[in-house]
Amino acid sequence: MSDLQLNWTEHELLATAPVAEPLIAGGRLCHGGFDADGTYVTPRTLGRNPAVSAWQQNQREIFGTEIVSVPLDTWPETYPNVAQSKYLLTEGVCEPVITNLTRIGTVEGFGAVIRYEDTRNLQRFFADPIEGTALGHLGPLFEAHARDEAGHEEVAGHKDMWFAARDIAFESPAVEDQMAVMLQRIGIPATAPTAKEIAANKLAMRVHDDLDPTFESMIRRMLSILFIEISAFHTFAWAEAVLSDENLVAGSGEAARLVSYIRADETPHVEYLKTVLTEIRDRTLITESGGRRPGKEVVETLWKNSLSESLGARRTAYLKTAVDELQISLMGNPRRDSILEGFHELGTFRPDASGEFAPIGTY
Ligand SMILES: [Fe+2]
Ligand SMILES: [Fe+2]
Repeated sequence: MSDLQLNWTEHELLATAPVAEPLIAGGRLCHGGFDADGTYVTPRTLGRNPAVSAWQQNQREIFGTEIVSVPLDTWPETYPNVAQSKYLLTEGVCEPVITNLTRIGTVEGFGAVIRYEDTRNLQRFFADPIEGTALGHLGPLFEAHARDEAGHEEVAGHKDMWFAARDIAFESPAVEDQMAVMLQRIGIPATAPTAKEIAANKLAMRVHDDLDPTFESMIRRMLSILFIEISAFHTFAWAEAVLSDENLVAGSGEAARLVSYIRADETPHVEYLKTVLTEIRDRTLITESGGRRPGKEVVETLWKNSLSESLGARRTAYLKTAVDELQISLMGNPRRDSILEGFHELGTFRPDASGEFAPIGTY
């Protein structure tokens, strides 16, 4: 057995390496910073990165299995794509891109709900020990994740970093006063769900009725966030390509650089989630009646459900919202029809005459 450090304190898992220069975006202090060479330093990875590597290696050594992987090409490219977005900006239609950046920042902020998962005494759900695993450190891992997404105390996280990128690129567009209206229009509630709403949802979404609903819901949430995190790498590529075009947006590439820092911060999220899901998959679970169930069976079922939701219903709803958004921003524009046509011509698929998109898999 290797000499791995498998037990870490919360303090260690939340620690950030010292930085030579802080990251300031749009006048606001953000998390992370730069080392003496000017390289961006992701926050809260001083202990988290080596800890996750150690847990992954330990998992391989004990169970002889590989950590789960999900290739990025499982997900289609961003819609609208880079060419479509740049075309709209060339035509002076900035609102869809601005709205998209607001939406991404808002969704990032909602990622902080992961800290409300109940991580106490998870050992009772496992027949195998979980000491010295990522599973055994989920509380601090969720807390680090929540702080990365929503910020912590006076230091801004991804939510405000996306808003800063938007404000730099589009010179502080007037969005604040319309925020509630816009969020409703794009299908996001203006406030994060309450603890009561979260609890009701857990029961409604239950798949395995012999598993503790809170525990099962936590696995589902981790899967859902993992898939959002991985598919988001397409979003980062889109944002960096659009926001680095100095002919189309302001800020001399600063907005795109900010997005590249956010992207760097996402890798630890993907890695710890993959590790925890692997640890659950390879263990035997204890059911509510005290029976046994292979973790593999549970993780594989929930994985399949979550993946098809990510690629199916959620994706189709998003495509329709994107086109609705574009149509709203073209209202009253005398060139509406020609811009819409130019936009669709640059896409790899388009809605039919009734505005419906073909089901996923047929593009
Ligand atoms: Fe994020
Ligand atoms: Fe993330």
